[in-house]
Amino acid sequence: MEQVERLLAEAKRARENAYAPYSRFKVGAALLGKSGRVYRGCNVENASYGATICAERAAIVQAVSQGEREFDAIAVVADMPEPVPPCGLCRQVLAEFSPQMQVIMGNLAGQVRITSVEQLYPGAFTQSALLEPDAQQRG
Ligand code: THU
Repeated sequence: MEQVERLLAEAKRARENAYAPYSRFKVGAALLGKSGRVYRGCNVENASYGATICAERAAIVQAVSQGEREFDAIAVVADMPEPVPPCGLCRQVLAEFSPQMQVIMGNLAGQVRITSVEQLYPGAFTQSALLEPDAQQRG
């Protein structure tokens, strides 16, 4: 539980850096790598709205860029009535690396919901479709 609290606190800190002038919906994420390192991410919006990057993906990009690819947990925090659920695009990106990773969703009111990527996103399209031997036979 201590770890959950720590990750939520890190996600709240990351949220302070959110660049969200269009939606004004600030999100922070804290991703715990197997190494024990924590990578923060915030949403980074863009005037070309579709170019916006969510907090969860920002954290993944940060971690992978620093050489970490396996994760135990991610905490996500926003200011909304319920704990914030990761969007579909982020679920796909989280599933690429660690489908078993714990997903700790929180809000500023202190509500918390804990689940996993697998539970949030069953049946993900994964690398097995592209990298397993059978996939190499495609003509
Ligand atoms: N957003 C996130 O960063 N993570 C989520 O889990 C939900 C949505 C961002 C994207 C956009 O900047 C804003 O929230 C509104 O959609």
